[in-house]
Amino acid sequence: MQRLASGIAILLATSACTTMEVHDGMPIVTEPMVAPILTTPEAQDNLTYAEPEKARVTHVALDLALDFAAKRVGGTADLRILADPGEERLVLDTNGLEISRVTDHVGRDLTFEIGEQVEEGGKGAPLIVMLNGVRNVRIHYMAPADAEALQWLSPEQTAGGEYPFLFSQGQAILNRTWIPTQDSPGIRQTWEARIIAPKPLDVVMSGVAQGEPEDLGDGRRAFRFIMDKPVPPYLIAIAAGDIDFRAIGPRTGVWAEPTVLPRAHAEVGDTEEMVVAAEELYGEYRWGRYDMIVLPPAFPYGGMENPVMTFLTPTFIAGDRSNNGLVAHELAHSWSGNLVTNAVWGDSWLNEGVTTYFENRIVEAVYGKKRAEQEAALMYANIQEVLGEVGNDAPGTALSTDGGYELGSAIAYDKGAFFLRTVERIVGRERFDAWLRQWFDNHAFQPATSEMFYEDMMQNLVASEAEAQALMLRDWIFAPGLPSNVAKPDPAAFAEVDAAVAAYADRRTIPTAYPNWTAAEQMRFLDNLPATLSAEQLAELDASLGLSDTGNNEILFLWLEMALENRYAPAVPLAEEFLARVGRAKFVRPLFGVLWDQGDWGRPIAQRIYAKTHDTYHAVTRAGVDRVMAAD
Ligand code: BES
Ligand code: ZN
Repeated sequence: MQRLASGIAILLATSACTTMEVHDGMPIVTEPMVAPILTTPEAQDNLTYAEPEKARVTHVALDLALDFAAKRVGGTADLRILADPGEERLVLDTNGLEISRVTDHVGRDLTFEIGEQVEEGGKGAPLIVMLNGVRNVRIHYMAPADAEALQWLSPEQTAGGEYPFLFSQGQAILNRTWIPTQDSPGIRQTWEARIIAPKPLDVVMSGVAQGEPEDLGDGRRAFRFIMDKPVPPYLIAIAAGDIDFRAIGPRTGVWAEPTVLPRAHAEVGDTEEMVVAAEELYGEYRWGRYDMIVLPPAFPYGGMENPVMTFLTPTFIAGDRSNNGLVAHELAHSWSGNLVTNAVWGDSWLNEGVTTYFENRIVEAVYGKKRAEQEAALMYANIQEVLGEVGNDAPGTALSTDGGYELGSAIAYDKGAFFLRTVERIVGRERFDAWLRQWFDNHAFQPATSEMFYEDMMQNLVASEAEAQALMLRDWIFAPGLPSNVAKPDPAAFAEVDAAVAAYADRRTIPTAYPNWTAAEQMRFLDNLPATLSAEQLAELDASLGLSDTGNNEILFLWLEMALENRYAPAVPLAEEFLARVGRAKFVRPLFGVLWDQGDWGRPIAQRIYAKTHDTYHAVTRAGVDRVMAAD
């Protein structure tokens, strides 16, 4: 059914031109691309104080120094403002920043005020600046040592053990703890930065490095970066440490600590091929280079799609590229998320669900159908498990929500991916791929909402009333649970493993084929073993399947989870070692949760371990552990 869009998105100030000038050998963005904002009610972000329809930031220029001793970042942020001539008030987001002065472009003081701090949820406090007729504002500030976006690692927390390390994590609303700007995914900004760091540390950012660092002659160097495409500010990211670079393909490469680099480089060896596969699917890669940095294990996520510089946990390294869906995922965000961005966090599925679908298509193109179907089947099992726990009617199970990620990855990621898979099956791959490609092209460098996605499908994909009925689009996006038309995974994907699970449950048969299985098959097996296992059974499984010795952290995690759920004391030292080594929330939070659920047996163990590891975890991981250890 071809329908006209019913005017759901009003775009303001669209102009798309960027010019670069060269000053002292340094290109400067003079007229950055200005992206539109959305003004519809469903695109209003209640996690920002900004009033972008009145005055908004279009460009950020940071000049900051990293102080590793004090764990502080400070300097200036120059903001370029787009506002009506009469507009006098600029509202920014901050959380914990110490603002010493606000001036205009020639250094005259501007009046400013920090409003009331909201303690819950990290919204922080508004910084209100009286513009006094100017449209260029300089903020002089320092971020506190406990800025949540930043994690300062001691040398002991690195692989090399000799130098400190710093990384940032902006998504969702953490960047306001180190950058005073309008921190909303619907307010895109170009940016540039000059970052001073002590020698011999190197600095990378989610922007393009400009030449060699400048030696300041005082034991420090200044690094410059530019992002000339408008991005949501959660994508501004930094890392600094003793790191080296190694190329993969002509536009791909990886950074890591010197001792990690060989293993990291080997693991991501398919990246150039993945970029080629992604481009063949959904169009040109628009960001120039695709580099990655493998961070120390304290990084709280598996990966983060920072433009031109994906951040990765080292815990995905398995030696056999079996966890490389992670790289495909972060790469796919270069389209879904970074090019077309959810305007509000309640529509995260537009970033994560579309990306998870796209990830699976890259995996299929690079590793084949079997692996892609198996990974899809694991996602489907995850949806089923969560819906089984919370019920098909639970409001949080709609894709479009007004909240965050309480249900982990099952809804925004996996249900989102199965939505697109279902549409693909109904309309056919060729039509679906053409539609998704035009979605990215027509909304490139712009925010989007669930309503826009729906309207675009109705206008540009759906061919008849009968097809509209069959697709159940509004059910998928706005209703809880899993619609009846879901394109289920192929039951053959895990037929052999599922038979082995049944044989174990019936007769305790240990599958002799286990060592030859793919990582996904091994995970499927471990995930589906009976919930209650005796110490004798656990010992037998460990001994015959080599679970404690696996080099794959995803599998190690499943083993430890299953062991602790059954109060298997011999696994405690390994769990303790794992929880001390790894800071990834996806692993750490559930293991503490399992221990906590084990009452008198597990709680003292959890408390003992957490007392030792607490200070080494990122604020995101700590918040997750605190939550599970507060349960009764
Ligand atoms: N953008 C997310 C990470 C994220 C999500 C940060 C929510 C802050 C809030 C990233 O792309 C992601 O999804 N990472 C996953 C890996 C993926 C393969 C499912 C992760 O970290 O586990
Ligand atoms: Zn993601």
